[in-house]
Amino acid sequence: MLVTRYQIQTDLFQGRYTIAICGDLHDKSRSGKTCIKHLEQVRPDLILLPGDIVENHAFPLGYGLGFLKTLASMAPCFMSLGNHETGGRHHFIHGKDIILSSDSDFKSFLQSISDTGVKLLNNEYVCFGPLVIGGAPSPLWRDSDHHLFTKEPDLGFLKTFSETQGYKILLFHHPELFEKYIASFPVQLTLAGHAHGGQVRLFGKGIYAPGQGLFPKLTSGIHTCNNFPDRQMIITKGLSNNTPFPRLFNPPELVVLSLIGT
Ligand SMILES: [Fe+2]
Repeated sequence: MLVTRYQIQTDLFQGRYTIAICGDLHDKSRSGKTCIKHLEQVRPDLILLPGDIVENHAFPLGYGLGFLKTLASMAPCFMSLGNHETGGRHHFIHGKDIILSSDSDFKSFLQSISDTGVKLLNNEYVCFGPLVIGGAPSPLWRDSDHHLFTKEPDLGFLKTFSETQGYKILLFHHPELFEKYIASFPVQLTLAGHAHGGQVRLFGKGIYAPGQGLFPKLTSGIHTCNNFPDRQMIITKGLSNNTPFPRLFNPPELVVLSLIGT
């Protein structure tokens, strides 16, 4: 597992935070345990999780919940929902596809996440010292008839969140939607995942990412918004994989950000 370190400076506050960014675990225990060992060394001040940690179609729910519980015992944790938490509303039981049809099923899934001690930010934000941490869920949803559809992020929430005083960090799973939906709001830092580093990396670039197709541009690293250079996005390559195709030349990644207020 790669531990990638970034440093960002800001004059919006004074002080320093070590922030671990964990995404795209997809319930995989081996990667989760390796990540936890690294976190024991890093000792972050807070842990931010921009989605796809727990597969919501698993029955019973999988290792992702145990991972969250362990992380919550190490540091304050905040999480937003990825598409595998909003979009997979069905079980396969004894060969039958049983759709989680009711909103109460989904609510109990969300409650399972909250019960771990991780603060789930579902179009919500919290203040953490000078930081304002918000979470917007993946816009990919599956309705009660099992149809996947895309809805717009909650722009009202994004407006309210972005107008709050402080250094704003938004957890939003989809890097490919940053320019379209997020960048117009005055949010200093967006954290995303989803692209899994481009699955196969050659010459330092990813080959494929969902939502971006072949030769995607947004798979890892720090990106600055073209029109607003003070708005940045960090994309984690993710902790694991959920496709039959392996990650090649693309180890799982834990991102550690030093956010320094001057
Ligand atoms: Fe995803």
